[in-house]
Amino acid sequence: MLAEPKIKSLKDLVEGATRDELIWISGYIAALTGQPIPEKLSKELAPSSPSALSGSTIVYGTETGNSKKVAVDFSNRLKKQGIQSKIKSLDQYRLTDLSKESCLLVVISTQGDGEPPEAAKKFYDHIQQNQLSLNHLKYGVLALGDSAYPLFCKTGEDVDNRLNQLGAQRIIPIKKCDVDFESDANAWINDLINTAIASGADAVAPTVTAKPTAEPKPAKPGRKIYEGTVVKSINLNDKGSNKETYHVEITTEEPISYEAGDAIGVVAKNNQTVVNKILELLQLSGEEILQYKDGSYKARDLFTNKLSIQYLPTRVIQVYAKMVDKEIPSIRMDLADLLRIYPADKTLDVQQLVSIIGTIIPRLYSISSSPLAHGENEVHLTVSRNTFNVDGHLRHGLCSDYLSTLKEGTTLQIYVQKNNAFKLPAADKDVIMIGPGTGVAPFRSFLFERDAQAATGRNWFFFGEQHFVSDFLYQTEMQSFLETGVLTKLNTAFSRDQEHKVYVQHRMQQHAAELFEWIENGASIFISGTKEPMSVDVEKTLISIIAQHKNIDEQKAVEYLGSLKESGRYHKDVY
Ligand SMILES: Cc1cc2nc3c(=O)[nH]c(=O)nc-3n(C[C@H](O)[C@H](O)[C@H](O)COP(=O)(O)OP(=O)(O)OC[C@H]3O[C@@H](n4cnc5c(N)ncnc54)[C@H](O)[C@@H]3O)c2cc1C
Ligand SMILES: Cc1cc2nc3c(=O)[nH]c(=O)nc-3n(C[C@H](O)[C@H](O)[C@H](O)COP(=O)(O)O)c2cc1C
Repeated sequence: MLAEPKIKSLKDLVEGATRDELIWISGYIAALTGQPIPEKLSKELAPSSPSALSGSTIVYGTETGNSKKVAVDFSNRLKKQGIQSKIKSLDQYRLTDLSKESCLLVVISTQGDGEPPEAAKKFYDHIQQNQLSLNHLKYGVLALGDSAYPLFCKTGEDVDNRLNQLGAQRIIPIKKCDVDFESDANAWINDLINTAIASGADAVAPTVTAKPTAEPKPAKPGRKIYEGTVVKSINLNDKGSNKETYHVEITTEEPISYEAGDAIGVVAKNNQTVVNKILELLQLSGEEILQYKDGSYKARDLFTNKLSIQYLPTRVIQVYAKMVDKEIPSIRMDLADLLRIYPADKTLDVQQLVSIIGTIIPRLYSISSSPLAHGENEVHLTVSRNTFNVDGHLRHGLCSDYLSTLKEGTTLQIYVQKNNAFKLPAADKDVIMIGPGTGVAPFRSFLFERDAQAATGRNWFFFGEQHFVSDFLYQTEMQSFLETGVLTKLNTAFSRDQEHKVYVQHRMQQHAAELFEWIENGASIFISGTKEPMSVDVEKTLISIIAQHKNIDEQKAVEYLGSLKESGRYHKDVY
């Protein structure tokens, strides 16, 4: 393979080399060729290698468990290479440790509208708000996200940029992973290990000042989309209720691969009355061809299926104000209102207008069916129709309105959003479920699943809503689960059936001693439903119950709950 003079140079190079130098050379060549370090060699030699990754800390910030899964795989890969590292969830990470860390490897997702996951908020705020000196620190960031969102992997980018600003040295460029994150995450871990072992203790990416790579986008498999048909849609609330909550059953030809605890992603279509109004205001027939992102669409299709025309962000309003040369207050509003209240004086460039409008982002709905009980060609959703008032007019949230008004027989596209952080424990373990309102959805799934498994673990469900008579979602099913013993205990809180408001956390408090006994006995705790105020109040109540019954102070109770989370016994699916 090699010409004689090169063989000679190589021999000269390796002949007098020390063991450490040989390790360095082998890693260097592996990195140059993009190969993983040969396992035999790395296992044998890496422990003594002065790798930049030795003693590093992997931290992860996750909402649905993907970043944790990647971080755990990452830690195992380092171990295989003989590199010792620690692994911590960001909510368990002591912020004061940052000053002692030599190498920090961050795996973090983006949530909400470009926000950090709840568990990473403290860390995120800490580095953003404090002028830390991190010159001693080497780091790398692996960002998880979804390119359907306008702020793709924003949290990972923010962390990467901020650590760099604070003087830390990037050892590898950030990698932004889309929904099918596994292969990109793997490639990043490979690159990192190869670079670090090849470069030894002084490894610093030559990209410290370079911008994160604009990776060429290879063709990706993307998420699996299923064609579904609505076969049943019923309002679970009775007459007199303030709410509309729809039980929607969707069947598919193809089996849907999901587990209890997962969610369904839906991309809504815009309401046709609103689309007609917009076409009229823009003086379009709907047949015109418009370019948007990577394709051409008929105007009606574009406004119906792609453009996020409801509740425009203020940045869009501001660009529109410049386009039409008008003073428009910096508040969010619907496109139809914007065009009606602030019409252009001259002909509006519709092509330019659509280019500033974002794409409809998918919304998630916890699956309320169980694959074991309902089969693999069917999912059930429990959708609360989001209703609010704008200037005295009743309006609805985009996707919940779309789902609530779908007629039986209508087809729609859906995908499965895995939630690795919200999974039932083994069949013989006890489960405590706290899920008022639509928080019932994953627990209906859990109960059907436990029933179908003939699980021996006990099940305790706390449910809450406004009124017993009109709002007890899935009442007959829950009562039947009680009768058959699938539900060991059911406690309900109907907030408006008496003078004083009663919520699920009050019921938990009333049964505190028994609840604590279940927890000490190994039960897993699950919370589902609205993030604020429900999940915050429920968590506070759990902490207070633990403090009271374990006879410890609040800080210790927080740590106790943290340890339940770390051991996979405390889960939240809140929104
Ligand atoms: C993991 C997960 C699981 C979930 N599970 C469920 C579930 O099982 N069941 C369920 O019902 N929901 C669930 N959700 C919530 C769901 O995804 C949606 O967030 C919810 O249905 C609202 O979406 P929407 O499109 O109807 O409302 P959007 O259109 O997104 O509106 C949301 C809010 O924005 C404001 N807004 C919107 N338009 C205007 C306007 N023109 N003027 C003023 N304000 C406006 C209003 O405050 C409105 O309430 C879940 C969310 C997550 C993340
Ligand atoms: C409610 C919600 C909002 C999200 N917002 C964003 C976003 O703004 N930008 C982004 O890139 N990804 C966004 N995502 C996608 C997640 O980052 C992605 O699913 C990731 O794999 C989740 O990883 P985790 O399980 O570690 O939290 C969002 C996901 C959900 C459920």
